[in-house]
Amino acid sequence: MKKVVLAYSGGLDTSVCIPLLREHYGYDEVIAVTVDVGQPEADLNEAKGRGEKLSNSYREVDAKEEFVRDYIFQLIKANGNYEGYVLGTAIARPLIARHVLAVAERECADAVAHGCTGKGNDQLRFDAVFRTSNLRLIAPMRELALTREEEKRYAADHGITFETDKRWSVDENIWSRSIEGSELEDPAVSPPETAFQWTTAVDNAPDTPDILKIGFERGVPVSINDEARDGVALIKDLNAIGGKHGIGRTDMMEDRVLGYKAREVYEHPAATILLEAHRDIERLVLTRNELRFKEMVDRTWSELVYQGLVMDPLFEALNAFIDKTQERVTGYVYMRLNRGVARVIGRESPYALYSKEVSFDVKGEQSIAEGYSMYHGFQSRLAAMKTRTL
Ligand code: ARG
Repeated sequence: MKKVVLAYSGGLDTSVCIPLLREHYGYDEVIAVTVDVGQPEADLNEAKGRGEKLSNSYREVDAKEEFVRDYIFQLIKANGNYEGYVLGTAIARPLIARHVLAVAERECADAVAHGCTGKGNDQLRFDAVFRTSNLRLIAPMRELALTREEEKRYAADHGITFETDKRWSVDENIWSRSIEGSELEDPAVSPPETAFQWTTAVDNAPDTPDILKIGFERGVPVSINDEARDGVALIKDLNAIGGKHGIGRTDMMEDRVLGYKAREVYEHPAATILLEAHRDIERLVLTRNELRFKEMVDRTWSELVYQGLVMDPLFEALNAFIDKTQERVTGYVYMRLNRGVARVIGRESPYALYSKEVSFDVKGEQSIAEGYSMYHGFQSRLAAMKTRTL
């Protein structure tokens, strides 16, 4: 009995993988695993229905809390951002792959499989985790490179049907929704309003703003308007309220790992709100030196996540640095949500590096600054004077 465990989303590609793994690759038993990282209930139900019908054994792993606690919270601390993308799909892939691999090892399977094509980043992220084991790795979509038409015909022949025609390739979890493909492949074509599901168009957003008070403890958001919230609930709430105000849409060109540019459309209200808030409170409590250095760390952290290289020892080292800096990132950020914009309007912290002694309202010993000024830019001044007179 040859056994394979497949990372299964319920979509067309991964569904077609199930009969392919039997017919083309000769596996007797296909175990389909869906990892719940906060995709919509309807998608999970669809995956379950189709997975149970097609596979020999279907499993769902609820990883929502783990995703938020161990992945999203770290991303917030690291101000996760790759070229303006909040890394929603990227950060979820290693977690999904790890759960799928764990099932494969428990079941003593011969192989692990995913449904990624050979074009995108996701294949690299799954592969990177799968290759940490000695199991055979199978990527039918990449290996067989069926055209969309061939794939649809094969699906129909195997009783794999979809009620609605999937116009775009959508990847969704609690942190972000990504919309790719079809007419969006053309960078010049603006996305139709129907592409968006989490966010209201700014023109239809309410006039009245909402003011939020977001509480942070050690870099992690813990409350909204003084009400404690667990991570999953907090992010869901912010997605709802931010989405209502049309916050968190991104339409961008992205440099993929393989080096080519792709047009990407995303929506992510909670991510926009929390990343804005977190960056702001860091500016209140971290020193200038810490901020400058952390910018580089955050950037490298985000690149490793984008590339799916979270098993690189550097990632753990960067996390240790990031966690150390977050010890003082505690306090509150006040935000105003209105018409597509989440704007910080205030912040406070017991660790604020702000001294009233230098504020505009205090007379103070201003003349002592003159000594500093004498030497400030001494070399620059000398150089400027010489080139002017020579
Ligand atoms: N470009 C993004 C990334 O590389 C999103 C990918 C979305 N994946 C998908 N299968 N629709 O992380």
